[in-house]
Amino acid sequence: MNHMDQVRMLEFPVNGDERGHLVIVEGLQDIPFEMKRLFYIFGSDPEVVRGQHANRKSQFVLINVAGTSKVKVKDGRGNEAIYCLNRPHTGLFIPTMVWKDMYDFSEDSVLLCISDEHYDPAEYIRNYDEYVKAVLEENE
Ligand code: TYD
Repeated sequence: MNHMDQVRMLEFPVNGDERGHLVIVEGLQDIPFEMKRLFYIFGSDPEVVRGQHANRKSQFVLINVAGTSKVKVKDGRGNEAIYCLNRPHTGLFIPTMVWKDMYDFSEDSVLLCISDEHYDPAEYIRNYDEYVKAVLEENE
């Protein structure tokens, strides 16, 4: 199984009227999981690369609610893809066991990350060689 095949952009409903826009993200409706945790990243310089890990248990949806950034995903077998997050009503779904780098943050970037798991550092794989090994083991 290649988890990277499931990486995809999601589009959320926008309720707009003369008062402005309201974007709705419902667990199991607009994203493919129930949410347990959210965190957001802001104030990262353009040359900073964040992420640089894969998760054994957590799935994520990443939304640039303000500004822009890029996300590079890798499958540990030589395939990679780059997504530009540049609209506040779209999100990038990243399932488990996908390597991710977040970078090219605009000065006003606020990157909202939604997950289906509470934080557990033990389920993060932060070493790329270890990740490649885990991908191979998974497919044995
Ligand atoms: P890190 O995983 O390096 O952030 P990112 O992948 O988004 O660049 O996390 C930075 C620090 O924050 C690290 O010490 C772990 C801590 N942290 C938590 O305590 N809870 C969390 O939910 C997250 C995402 C990070």
